[in-house]
Amino acid sequence: MNIVILAAGQGKRMQSNLPKVLHPVAGRPMLMHVLEAVRPLAPQRIIVVVGHGSNAVMQACADQPNLAFAQQHQQLGTGHALQQAMPMVDDKGITLMLYGDVPFIRTETLRTLLVATGANGFGLLTVNLPDPSGYGRIIRNANGQVQRIVEQKDATAQERTITEVNTGILAAPTVHLKRWLAQLKNDNAQGEYYATDLIAMAASEGMPIHTVHPAAPWETEGINDKIQLAAVERAYQRSQARILMEQGVTLLDPNRFDLRGTLHCGKDVSIDVNCVFEGEVALANGVSIGANCLIKDAQIGAGTKIEAFTHMENVRIGANAKIGPYARLRPGTVLSDETHIGNFVELKNTHMGRGSKANHLAYLGDAQVGAAVNYGAGSITANYDGANKHRTVIEDNVQVGSNCVLVAPVTIAQGATIGAGSTISKPVPAGGLTIARAKQSTLAGWVRPAKLKK
Ligand code: UD1
Ligand code: CA
Repeated sequence: MNIVILAAGQGKRMQSNLPKVLHPVAGRPMLMHVLEAVRPLAPQRIIVVVGHGSNAVMQACADQPNLAFAQQHQQLGTGHALQQAMPMVDDKGITLMLYGDVPFIRTETLRTLLVATGANGFGLLTVNLPDPSGYGRIIRNANGQVQRIVEQKDATAQERTITEVNTGILAAPTVHLKRWLAQLKNDNAQGEYYATDLIAMAASEGMPIHTVHPAAPWETEGINDKIQLAAVERAYQRSQARILMEQGVTLLDPNRFDLRGTLHCGKDVSIDVNCVFEGEVALANGVSIGANCLIKDAQIGAGTKIEAFTHMENVRIGANAKIGPYARLRPGTVLSDETHIGNFVELKNTHMGRGSKANHLAYLGDAQVGAAVNYGAGSITANYDGANKHRTVIEDNVQVGSNCVLVAPVTIAQGATIGAGSTISKPVPAGGLTIARAKQSTLAGWVRPAKLKK
């Protein structure tokens, strides 16, 4: 089986410089979703027809294995686009055609279509829509057999009332497709070569058209403008939310939940409103996520609480930790069990040992922090000298007072206490109290200046 994905159109109605198939849905270009859906079908070849913005589209596919591109220099219609790919497909077997702007087609639906198509049949994926406007309508004869497809712009008022529409996805023997494509004409309202005219050709040769429906209509919704983009995005998000809820995840409002990647959840996970999950995220048993968090590529251990407005990317957090509200965990943050990171605390490339705390207004960058450390409010690691980054090592049981500057590279040995307001630029020995700030003094008998009389 060969697969052809049409992705050459400009997508005028998107009103954008970005080629339509590169507009992201659920965090990734539409075309990537289509590719993901077809991979499990193990096709011999996948051919993407590119044209408008072809360089950008090919670049976006650069890391996709086993992909070939066919150029459609002028966008003369979907039939013309399919034709451009035909020299690259094998005459043996069937060709499955998909559109790059129908991103949420499921693998299972395609499998059903392929089974219905068989080795010699014609398979067409259609769907019933309460509002069919914009789509090609399916015309059946009195026996219910599909005769042809009529595009909205070519349809009579009567035909426009038909609610069964073309999803654009079809499968047929490659030899026949090649033969029919050579006969396509563009004598229609848009002056285009329509792939949909293939159906009438097959039917006129007495070939039965087997129709299959998707499980949910949004699966086959085409995206032509920003309104459809938003609608399809939300429908997809609701379906992801539903799957998570079926698995036992508590979503305080499934309509305000966004997953742009994959989310693995243990038991009794709770997610408050307006959270966005990106990349690969794993939440262990009993994790709770407060409102308005952005969580990207993260592993969060059992019982950990992430409070509202926390932002994290590329992090690992142990069990029973408490993070936020308003914490920012940047890439390379690794937090052990029972750590506490409070409001307006930023961490980057920092490891923190068990039970350590940085509760208020602090920065730790390129730091190795031991266990049971208390890192005071307003303290920072000065890790960047303007040219290079340097490391700070804080051993177990250290207490860093408020408003300290730790000038890296520097090591603070086990059990040390740093007095508030210290600027530490030399190694700190274990155990003692280290203070590096101007001594406090009082001038007795000092008089405040008074305003001069004019
Ligand atoms: C098409 C179908 C319509 C169907 C609908 C489903 C035709 C003639 N019409 O209409 O029956 O209900 O999809 O979503 O097929 N493309 C090219 N080259 C071209 C033209 C289009 O590669 O010359 C690509 C586009 O990039 C897009 C896809 O084909 O990915 C569909 O094209 P579009 O113009 O969006 O077709 P619709 O008007 O939506
Ligand atoms: Ca479309």
